[in-house]
Amino acid sequence: MDNHRVAVIRGDGIGIEVVEEGMKVLKAVSKQYDFDFTFDEFPWSSDYYKDHGEMMPSDALDTLSGYDAIFLGAVGHPDIQDHITLNGLLLPIRRTFDQYICERPNILYPGITSPLSGKSPFDIDMVVIRENTEGEYANVGGFQYSDFPEEIGIQTGIFTRKGCERAIRYAFELARRRNKKNHLTSVTKSNAQGYGLVVWDRAFDRVRQDYPDIQTRSLLVDAASMDFIRKPESFDVVVGSNLFGDILTDIGAIITGSMGLASSANLDPERRYPSMFEPVHGSAPDIMGQGIANPMAQILTGAMMARHLGENSAAEDIESSVLSLLEEGEILTPDLGGTSSTQVVGDAVVRSLGH
Ligand SMILES: NC(=O)c1ccc[n+]([C@@H]2O[C@H](COP(=O)([O-])OP(=O)(O)OC[C@H]3O[C@@H](n4cnc5c(N)ncnc54)[C@H](O)[C@@H]3O)[C@@H](O)[C@H]2O)c1
Repeated sequence: MDNHRVAVIRGDGIGIEVVEEGMKVLKAVSKQYDFDFTFDEFPWSSDYYKDHGEMMPSDALDTLSGYDAIFLGAVGHPDIQDHITLNGLLLPIRRTFDQYICERPNILYPGITSPLSGKSPFDIDMVVIRENTEGEYANVGGFQYSDFPEEIGIQTGIFTRKGCERAIRYAFELARRRNKKNHLTSVTKSNAQGYGLVVWDRAFDRVRQDYPDIQTRSLLVDAASMDFIRKPESFDVVVGSNLFGDILTDIGAIITGSMGLASSANLDPERRYPSMFEPVHGSAPDIMGQGIANPMAQILTGAMMARHLGENSAAEDIESSVLSLLEEGEILTPDLGGTSSTQVVGDAVVRSLGH
């Protein structure tokens, strides 16, 4: 029997609550098939930072490297500057394990009312591929004259030919594999960012020669943001830099109903290192501890993890179970207009597995 060893980092805020439901569903589905999950939990979080002065211990990356996958909730706390939580945990994991793809589906499911008028189920059905290890998140720069009136912050974006090409190639392969609209949109801003994003555009032009079967277009990020609202059905696969992908997927999440439905995976497609599975949403301090966070994003992220680990049928079962709850519309958290708690939704997903 296959046993998938998963490192679990609940993190902060609602991450703690939704990961519980994610693990519950994964455990339940594994019992219906011939495999198992071993979950080892690590308390790395903002609380850990308050006690130890660091988000995770110095050997954390070594520890994580021994796992098949990492299942993460969210990190972020109102008392701690976000760049500390991000640079102390998330970004080192993504970079060290060369998780150069962030894959984020945005699908309008049956039973969900989009804030955009006149949209039917699956009118919105796209996947955003975000370059995940360089670009605007490269953490290169510095301060001068800190705390003086002349204070300066310099932030450098890194765009390498290799980094751009491999993300773009993954997006082309995905468009082909999906075989839906066979279309790829590249998101750029090379009119104003005349160096890094020119390297991006050149990479897109080069790689697209290898995919004559995939239609392409290149949009400036401002136009892409507009079209995510104005005509989201025109997108199939979208590929963008680290920052653009991050921003566009929040738009993608909200036009498909809720941040509480948006799943995400940080992938090392070559499988040299563990990939990390965390939903799009953050720690949501505004609703933490109330038991009302929607666990579906974390649960669907768990389905992405199961699929990555080769458990395709289990992944499909989880997705069908979530979809049937959405369609029935009775057991939902408040973000989707319901009154059910996080735990009740998690239990309901477990109950409808395999039905
Ligand atoms: N991957 C991550 O760990 C990650 C991602 C984004 C933000 N953050 C961090 O999270 C903290 C809060 O950030 P934010 O408020 O900008 O974004 P957020 O995603 O935490 O919340 C945005 C809004 O969406 C709602 N929301 C999010 N997830 C939900 C869910 N599962 N169910 C119901 N409602 C949900 C929240 O209540 C809030 O109103 C910050 O510290 C930020 O840095 C972390």
